Amino acid sequence: MKKDFYTLGIETTCDETSASVLKNGTELVSNVVYSQTDIHKKFKGVVPELASRAHSMKMASVVKQAISKLGTKPKIDVVAFASGPGLPGALLVGRVGAELLSRMYNAKLIGVNHLEGHLLACDFKEGTAKTQLTFPLIGLIVSGGHTELWIGKNYGDYKLIGRTRDDAVGEAFDKVAKLLDLGYPGGPKVSQLAQKFRSSGKECKIKFPRPYMRGTFEFSFSGVKTAVSYFLRDNKKFNKDEVCYAFEEAVVDTLIYKVLEAVKYYKIKAIAVGGGVSANKWLRKRLGEECDKRKIKLYFSEPMYCSDNAAMIALAGYKKFKKLGKKNFNIEINPNMIIDSWRD
Ligand code: KG4
Ligand code: ZN
Repeated sequence: MKKDFYTLGIETTCDETSASVLKNGTELVSNVVYSQTDIHKKFKGVVPELASRAHSMKMASVVKQAISKLGTKPKIDVVAFASGPGLPGALLVGRVGAELLSRMYNAKLIGVNHLEGHLLACDFKEGTAKTQLTFPLIGLIVSGGHTELWIGKNYGDYKLIGRTRDDAVGEAFDKVAKLLDLGYPGGPKVSQLAQKFRSSGKECKIKFPRPYMRGTFEFSFSGVKTAVSYFLRDNKKFNKDEVCYAFEEAVVDTLIYKVLEAVKYYKIKAIAVGGGVSANKWLRKRLGEECDKRKIKLYFSEPMYCSDNAAMIALAGYKKFKKLGKKNFNIEINPNMIIDSWRD
């Protein structure tokens, strides 16, 4: 009888401490996520030193909870941890914890690109990794720290074709939320107020610029954020919902324009969207409509797997292990890691 194969995923790149167990590469046994939001919200942003401390305090209990479902003598075959990109101190905590666990369980230790995890999170449906992405595809990564376009030829075979020159899209959402005093992280709140305005049926009198950066696959969101700050400076009376609406429209129009340009240019008929901002309902709806019109296959992860979690790291680690075999894997952390094809 074939033995079951267990992958333990560890995620500590930013402000979520998470551990997850994946059975046979498909079945999620656990996905424990501790969010540090309460620690960082009074500073209206992530404080790297506090993030590292919180990871080191929480890691043991999060891992214990994740593996508790495997009984008193857990068997773990692979420990996959997010080795970058991310905050240097936070990554180190994950690296140390993951190495210790891999030695304890005599498991293979594998470093995984956090952003690749976001893309692969599209595979999860109701706790099972059952969707298989169809390749080639255009990957759109939209998180708090990154905004990137990739060509994916297969699992583990990626090429970066464009990224943001300045702010990431999630960062722009968070900065606008800060300007409007909406708390941290502000993306969901900005989106909620935008939706409120949208459903009010009122006419929007504000228009923010769309940074299309024509002729490139690059992004730039700092100008939209600055336009919002100038608007708030110059207008003493304004409707917060309307500002959020005008901002969200500008950002979503831009993301859709760019990703559709990429599928057209590369003649690719599938898109997968990953990262915290992929939870944005307006982006999901609008891009869904555009892809239906063009008969483009579109993948989003389920909302609960859009933000940082270790399930996506376990899945990426499992796939990497199965494809590359039992060699030694690269386990160096790299805060500025750029997506690349698997070769270690
Ligand atoms: O991927 P993620 O959880 O962490 C990073 O790897 O950065 O992304 C977090 C980002 C934050 O900037 C947050 O405000 C944004 O995702 N976000 C959203 C929404 N939900 C989360 N932005 C817009 N609309 C949302 N619904
Ligand atoms: Zn992330």
